[in-house]
Amino acid sequence: MYKTHNCGELRAEHDGKKVILSGWVNQWRDHGGLVFIDLRDRWGLSQIVFNPEHEATCHETATRLRNEYVIKIEGIVHHRPEGLANPNMPTGAIEVIAHAIEIINPAKTPPFYINKEDTVDEALRLKYRYLDLRRQRMQRNMLLRHNVILYMRNFLAKEGFIEVETPILFKSTPEGARDYLVPSRVHPGKFYALPQSPQQLKQLLMIAGYERYFQIARCFRDEDQRGDRQPEFTQLDLEMSFVDQDDILTLTERLMTGIVEDVSDKKILHKPFPRFNYPEVMERFGIDKPDIRFGLELKTLNDLVADCGFKVFSNTINNGGMVRGINAKRCGTYSRKKIDELTKFVRQFGAKGLAWLIVGDGDKPHRSSFIKFLKPEIVDNIVKHLEGEPGDLLLIVADTAEIANNALAKLRDEFGKRLGLVDDDVVAFCWVIDFPLVMWNEDEKRWDPSHHLFTAPMDEDITFLDTDPSKAHGKQHDLVCNGYELAGGSIRIHQRDIQEKIFDLIGLDIEEAKDQFGHMLEAFEYGTPPHGGIASGIDRLVMILAGEPNISEVIAFPKSQSAADLMAGVPTPVMEHQLNDLHIRLQT
Ligand code: AMO
Ligand code: AMP
Repeated sequence: MYKTHNCGELRAEHDGKKVILSGWVNQWRDHGGLVFIDLRDRWGLSQIVFNPEHEATCHETATRLRNEYVIKIEGIVHHRPEGLANPNMPTGAIEVIAHAIEIINPAKTPPFYINKEDTVDEALRLKYRYLDLRRQRMQRNMLLRHNVILYMRNFLAKEGFIEVETPILFKSTPEGARDYLVPSRVHPGKFYALPQSPQQLKQLLMIAGYERYFQIARCFRDEDQRGDRQPEFTQLDLEMSFVDQDDILTLTERLMTGIVEDVSDKKILHKPFPRFNYPEVMERFGIDKPDIRFGLELKTLNDLVADCGFKVFSNTINNGGMVRGINAKRCGTYSRKKIDELTKFVRQFGAKGLAWLIVGDGDKPHRSSFIKFLKPEIVDNIVKHLEGEPGDLLLIVADTAEIANNALAKLRDEFGKRLGLVDDDVVAFCWVIDFPLVMWNEDEKRWDPSHHLFTAPMDEDITFLDTDPSKAHGKQHDLVCNGYELAGGSIRIHQRDIQEKIFDLIGLDIEEAKDQFGHMLEAFEYGTPPHGGIASGIDRLVMILAGEPNISEVIAFPKSQSAADLMAGVPTPVMEHQLNDLHIRLQT
């Protein structure tokens, strides 16, 4: 037997008990005679004492221990001597006086500390991921992830959902990223695609009559890495029949609230979750995934400066662009150098410049990069519109709506942090709805779906599909949390003719559509219920709840920035005969 107890559970009431413990040596100290170790397993730490006067052989073995050795000990639990209890350790009231020890396996000195929260080089962490995962922070994250997923499963099972697994070897799905392809041995020249999501299959399950489906679904997307993106990631994917959008939003809201309140120590800032329509969210925050833990909203100045005579502003407006600004409260103390750095900051996002104004006070005039070009009353209106008070720094970008919004949204996030407005203990969810159904893709000269091509248009907008597609809205919903897009979904099209219309709109001709989605179009004709759903990024949710900056901190074996597994050295070359089996010849 290796364990009668785990290392985290011993308390004062175990005094006098004989126990067997196994685990890793977390820390080893030789106090001139007595040897102390902290023995670690998944549940915690227990202090073990080896006394040369009681058990000489056992003590001698203990002097040879080093950190991370795997050992088994037998001993008696004792209250720690008067004054030596450690209130910071759950098992700090006791220690185990060992009378037997077995070194099960020694360990080399690890490349980084397991028992300290040091900053460790990322590549080293990934190479020795099994050691990294031993660290307390990672164990806490993995446990949180488990609890989140367990909560989801229990919650949805109670709501009448069933979990159905869908294939990993399937057909390309249109989520907008590049596919990972798997060559077929038995069908030369043909490929499976790893699913970017189970979108089509979950809709087919609705047609199959399952009504409430969910899956903890692994998804694969070959796209550029970011902190909140991995090439393989996990969604809570769900789909429901005979529902409208509000049913999906309400259910998701109850689920998310339950998760945050039951398994995390975060507080929800707004209940119920605010719902913004797309134009409103863009107007107020410049982005469709705003961090609403703080204000600092964007303001449009077009009406105030259309004919102001300052060409940077008026030309932008004449060319159909926007002049927008934010108020960096109390940042009027910024030096020119610091303001120049802000200009560089917005240039990264394509902005051509940054106009600024430090609000003056009585005899102290405003200071600004542009007021010399403007009439005083226009300056006053700008200050008023941006709610400028003495000592505030007003920052303005004139550009296309897209660039002005994006640059200012990034600036808003930056000042949210600089001004200490971001409370890390809270989560602020919001819904974004009423997205345009399609957006014009200037490069390809065609319409792209804003969500995906199965999203239903609003009933009242169907006629716009023929007349002016830009005016059609989709029954799409995004759930946003602390500035991350956490979930996305929609009510789906369930009629073949409307689905064909969308294929046509996005430039798929009927033959291509049949080739790619013939099975869906055919299925629509066999009694398709109205249906819709949503998929939540589990990695992103756990990242937020764990207070981590990157989803790789909550994924056991993540890929590096260049989509590699640094531990196993994946991807790898393969043998010539394997390529031959797959009918593949590499270009050299
Ligand atoms: P969507 O593409 O919006 O929708 O994805 C849903 C959610 O999945 C998460 N996510 C990611 N997480 C980590 N790494 C990635 N590369 C990544 N890509 C997406 C995000 C996102 O909100 N089939 C539809 C859902 C539906 O319509 O029901 C879909 O996949 O949190
Ligand atoms: P200039 O006339 O080029 O000296 O510009 C006057 C001020 O306007 C400077 O502070 C510039 O940084 C700023 N500016 C230039 N282009 C833009 C722009 N597109 N948006 C906002 N401010 C700008």
